[in-house]
Amino acid sequence: MRKDFLWGGATAANQCEGGYLEGGKGMGTVDVVPWGENRFPIMLGEMNYKDLPDDSYYPSREAIDMYHHYKEDIALFAEMGFKCYRFSLSWSRIFPTGEEDMPNEEGLKFYEEVIDELLKYNIEPVITICHFDVPLALADKYGSWKNRILIDCFVHYCDAIFRRFKGKVKYWITFNEINMLLHLPFMGAGILFEEGENINQVKYQAAHNELVASAMATRLAHEIDPECKVGCMLAAGNFYPYSCNPDDVWKAMEKDRDNYFFIDVQARGQYPAYAMKFFEREGITLNAEEEDYRILRENTVDYISFSYYSSRCATADPDILKKSTAGNVMKSIKNPYLKASDWGWQIDPLGLRITLNTLYDRYQKPLFIVENGLGAADFMEADGTVSDDYRIDYLREHIKAMMDAVDMDGVDLLGYTPWGCIDLVSASTGEMKKRYGFIYVDKDNEGNGTLKRSRKKSFYWYQKVIETNGASL
Ligand code: BG6
Repeated sequence: MRKDFLWGGATAANQCEGGYLEGGKGMGTVDVVPWGENRFPIMLGEMNYKDLPDDSYYPSREAIDMYHHYKEDIALFAEMGFKCYRFSLSWSRIFPTGEEDMPNEEGLKFYEEVIDELLKYNIEPVITICHFDVPLALADKYGSWKNRILIDCFVHYCDAIFRRFKGKVKYWITFNEINMLLHLPFMGAGILFEEGENINQVKYQAAHNELVASAMATRLAHEIDPECKVGCMLAAGNFYPYSCNPDDVWKAMEKDRDNYFFIDVQARGQYPAYAMKFFEREGITLNAEEEDYRILRENTVDYISFSYYSSRCATADPDILKKSTAGNVMKSIKNPYLKASDWGWQIDPLGLRITLNTLYDRYQKPLFIVENGLGAADFMEADGTVSDDYRIDYLREHIKAMMDAVDMDGVDLLGYTPWGCIDLVSASTGEMKKRYGFIYVDKDNEGNGTLKRSRKKSFYWYQKVIETNGASL
């Protein structure tokens, strides 16, 4: 592994920060996503948050209160030896309604303090500009990314943060899991569907607006600070054909293309031929300006970051499709060769090597694994220890696969930041019980707990991994 390999961890503002109205912050879309049975209808954009019962519980509003604990948390990351820390900024902390002329100074100052705290320990900040949260006012007023006006709002936001953090932040990521807008439109992009709307037209219009915004942000970042690197971010994990029946192979290819579509544009600078044909068939007409295509062409990303939890599986056989589903976000069928986590996410370390190779073959740009990990229900013993050997096993096997991709296949990899390095709110379920961290946080699904932080067994294990640059697993 390269000497400057960026070992670290990853979180997102909406899942750990809390302080949802402090320091002048405005409401974000994720602040109105509840825990419980209404969570999926809201995340899918099928239910309006205004119709939620008054007693709904919104886990992101306090989350793990990193807003007030960040010094303590960063000290723990430093103790593990982190070389980098990936986190996101809350857009509505900086532009409370998304449309102010001037940024909210208190919001900028908060993030500046976080960044300075990281730099104090020589931890490289890796910042996601938009990780699922859009200012709620922009969603209410314009329908979020359905409307081109969001491009200007986003670029205005980027301008404020690029200027403020110039020289301190080298790695930027524009949109977290940009392909998630196809699967969870409200969660991924603040989109709520109106009755009678052509769903695919809406989704791909929003995608176009985000892609143009991402390219404009890339251009702006390079203008303001030529040293910085801007990446895109994909919810990755290849689709395998369920069998060698060519119909299954074709189905898997189509499913992969749904996801690669975004990165094809961000990394190669143009809409792929298969997407143009898909638009034609579906009657999708993009509201685009001639200039958009030039911007996309001239401002491709510097690197490709991605999350990997699992591979996926596709079939053309309707009977098999009916019978078996895996996971809870992207539709996939169960792979009979793989075990799954308690939440049904299939575990496939070799799939990470396959994904790394596929992405590198396809784009030939540096890659960055910015999420990976096992969501599990941890148990704290009476003496305060958490023996999360299952998490260590998961990570060990994935790191081995990652190192094979680098050392044996020659993939250019910048770093590895396991997800939820400190326990946080689950994006898909809203639970605290689904934990990923090296650091345990005392809080339950209903919001009870002291918020006390404790080191798990995996904390000491990962510390050693970093110290030996992956030699000790
Ligand atoms: C990714 C997201 O989808 O997976 C994170 O970028 C999310 O925000 C992570 O938390 C794990 O998913 P979950 O549903 O287990 O929290």
